[in-house]
Amino acid sequence: MTEHVAARAGGAQSRSGAENAPQFRDAMARLAGGVAILTVLDPIGRDCGLTVTAVSSVSLEPALVLVCVKKDGFIHDALFVADGWSLTFLAADQVDAAHYFARSRYPGDRDDFAAWGTRRAHAGELVLTGGVAAVECEPHQLVDAGDHTIAIGRVVRTPGDLTGATPLLHVDRTYWTPGQELE
Ligand SMILES: Cc1cc2nc3c(=O)[nH]c(=O)nc-3n(C[C@H](O)[C@H](O)[C@H](O)COP(=O)(O)O)c2cc1C
Repeated sequence: MTEHVAARAGGAQSRSGAENAPQFRDAMARLAGGVAILTVLDPIGRDCGLTVTAVSSVSLEPALVLVCVKKDGFIHDALFVADGWSLTFLAADQVDAAHYFARSRYPGDRDDFAAWGTRRAHAGELVLTGGVAAVECEPHQLVDAGDHTIAIGRVVRTPGDLTGATPLLHVDRTYWTPGQELE
């Protein structure tokens, strides 16, 4: 069962308020990371996807991952009721998916996954089969964190049948493929 925990972040919030927001955004934009699509079924069974980079592994035993999701985003409330959700780590040739699932949505908008290869994960949500990797999760914990909720999932499956070769990266507000390998 998902546990919902209120974060104790009051003091830190008041010291790093709106006046630091542009600098904070710029600093975080310099942190390079992989790009994932969070997928989940909404309460009436519609397929939803969201482009995310605020993703991290959390624990190996048990296997846990986290994703930070905007509270005012259309997908947010589905995380409170869904039986599971997945993260597909995108391949460089899926940058169109990153753009599509980052678009602004209005009430009543539907996501259309038809442009990408997909299959159903354990809880019915979609996984993009052209990604470089994916994790299928059971809900583990939801943590209240400012204007986001941290969704922590217990990894129940890491499909080995994905076809993507080269990961998609995001840094400096731009999509990239990995460059030169360093020692
Ligand atoms: C590269 C990239 C990374 C993103 N990472 C996250 C994320 O980790 N969590 C999140 O809630 N939204 C993230 N977003 C934002 C959503 O994908 C989406 O753009 C936004 O929710 C659009 O809705 P809006 O009109 O409400 O802004 C990211 C967007 C982009 C382009």
